[in-house]
Amino acid sequence: MKKINDISILYVEDEKGVREGLADILKFFCTELHIACDGVEGLELYKKYIPNIVISDIRMPNMDGVEMANKIRQIKESQHIIFTSAHSNDKYFIDAIELQVDGYILKPVNIEKLNKKIDSITKHIKLKKDFEKQQAMTIQADKLSSMKVMLENIAHQWRQPLGSISADATGLVIQKQMNKLSDENFYKNCESINENALHLSDTIDALSKFIEDEKQIENFNLKYSIDSVLNLLEATIIEHKIKVVNNTNDNIFIKSLQNEFKQALINIIINTKDALALEKDKFIFIDIKQNETSIIVSIKDNGGGIDEYILTKIFEPYFTTKHQSRGTGLGLYVSFDIITNILNGTLEVENKTFTHEDITYTGAEFTITLPLNI
Ligand SMILES: Nc1ncnc2c1ncn2[C@@H]1O[C@H](COP(=O)(O)OP(=O)(O)O)[C@@H](O)[C@H]1O
Ligand SMILES: [Mg+2]
Repeated sequence: MKKINDISILYVEDEKGVREGLADILKFFCTELHIACDGVEGLELYKKYIPNIVISDIRMPNMDGVEMANKIRQIKESQHIIFTSAHSNDKYFIDAIELQVDGYILKPVNIEKLNKKIDSITKHIKLKKDFEKQQAMTIQADKLSSMKVMLENIAHQWRQPLGSISADATGLVIQKQMNKLSDENFYKNCESINENALHLSDTIDALSKFIEDEKQIENFNLKYSIDSVLNLLEATIIEHKIKVVNNTNDNIFIKSLQNEFKQALINIIINTKDALALEKDKFIFIDIKQNETSIIVSIKDNGGGIDEYILTKIFEPYFTTKHQSRGTGLGLYVSFDIITNILNGTLEVENKTFTHEDITYTGAEFTITLPLNI
């Protein structure tokens, strides 16, 4: 009999003889085995250890297997559960089916059959873990690539203030050497140096906050968060002569994961730059709405929109219409993943035709809906 690694099992059975017999065998199937003699004790141990698999008898005193399984599912909906029962026409059988348990094994338990069941659940758990690991790595890789864009932006953005600081300082030195430094000029140049330095430090603060890896739910001001993303992308926006029509107001707060929100937003905004490449006048419109339970952020451009036949594909991984040197096809996939799976929200897209200052435009509109409380 082979040992199944890295799996914890909770075994619940009221009959002492059966319990001890099967427990002796189950030990070889897992790395961690917890044993309970009824539903009450089972539930207690479940809460304490959250095991990978629960194997439970159905008929038990105090709390039966179905009731316990129901309570467990309220804690963890995806919990793997196997029932054992001495009766093939058990009245609980239907309940067990409704609970969508992973297996139903008749007593006396056929060990080979149980082994197979545990084996297949183990494989399932491993696949799920691998998938989650892969997903986390994709999000991380995407974050690195948006950080690259931001660093390029900052390098651009810093040139001007750094130049000013250097010119101000040189000016002070020359005027001093020539004995022509007035108090007025001295204070003026120092003030300008300080202002520029503050601006640089704001940008670097915004970047280092974004880089922080710690996932922390916080109550944050949505407008400030959006502004900080726009600030980090400022050089790109200016270079491409994009006008950002920012209709956000500063009294909307949301309790969520700020960096994840920013990462999802950055990918959407970076795309608009490519979509707008051929337009003469380039606009990005950002709007926020709030209702009782959620906030809705929409990002719209006038880049002509997305072809109907690819509209359903853009959130798929590796889907890109760009040359491979410019597009990875991961941006919107990651945004979608973050918004739906991490932030509990939704991300939708549609083409919109609208007027702005009496001119009609068409473009893609991305709508992020997030719960006010994650
Ligand atoms: N604002 C937009 N306007 C038009 N098409 C867009 C827009 N945003 C995304 N797309 C389309 O969606 C595709 C996928 O975007 P994305 O996942 O960010 O990958 P990438 O930018 O690397 O191509 C893009 O290649 C483009 O065809
Ligand atoms: Mg992209």
